[in-house]
Amino acid sequence: MLTLHKFALSNKINLFGLMATLFIGQNKVFLPETDSTNSYATSLLKNVNCIEGTVVYTNKQTNGKGQRGNSWLSDPSMNITLSVILKPAFLRGTNVFYLSKITALALYDLLTDILTGSQFDIKIKWPNDILVNNRKIAGILIENNITEDRINWSVIGIGLNVNQTVFNGMVACSVKTITGKEILPEELSLQLFEKIEKWYLLLRNNHIETINLTYHQHLLGYKKSIRFMHRNVLFSGCIAGVEENGRIRIIQENNEELTFEIKEISFIL
Ligand code: BTN
Repeated sequence: MLTLHKFALSNKINLFGLMATLFIGQNKVFLPETDSTNSYATSLLKNVNCIEGTVVYTNKQTNGKGQRGNSWLSDPSMNITLSVILKPAFLRGTNVFYLSKITALALYDLLTDILTGSQFDIKIKWPNDILVNNRKIAGILIENNITEDRINWSVIGIGLNVNQTVFNGMVACSVKTITGKEILPEELSLQLFEKIEKWYLLLRNNHIETINLTYHQHLLGYKKSIRFMHRNVLFSGCIAGVEENGRIRIIQENNEELTFEIKEISFIL
């Protein structure tokens, strides 16, 4: 069996000279180019005894994966494209959506720190997007290995637009298009690791109420009327909440409540 030190590992330090995390990002695998950091991390997990918190990151993804079978396009060396390996043995498989919630909250906190100013409306868009002023700045793709309601490992894939300014017709934005300033993606990643670790430890320590409260506070359409599309039918409704299993509850204008799985509905913004 391979061991991790056969890979190029590097421990970057932050501006204060210390990695302010216990485990997220303490082991890193840097790949100048790869098809997808999620795919790489997944195959690593099958061959190597990876420790929790290992991060796979790259400057260039040639076949980046997005939600719903879409691809994730990211200009080389411009953005954050990484995957964090977690082993949340404490979490039941049926509650795996909490990983999505805490990753979204970590990204929300990171963006709140760097986009200071009230003109920025940062929102979590169920199930896996982060929007700033209604434009997508980040996406999350989580892949899990679950047996009998036990999570053996999870790969948390994150794409965050940092310095890219051209998006080929996509309704997207980046830190640079918003602030006009460039930030080194690697520097920003270190701050992201701190945020992920904070929320992950809250989850591990069972702070479910805090997680759910904060998640819903920042959720696009929570208790607000917005439009959705389900099987080619448009309808308006308010989000009443996102359940532990990731299903979304929507109260329609006629007060009827419906729940949907990921992939069953889309937002019309
Ligand atoms: C989405 O919004 O559709 C999810 C996008 C997730 C993209 C990231 S980039 C790093 C990681 N590797 C991948 O192939 N995808 C995720």
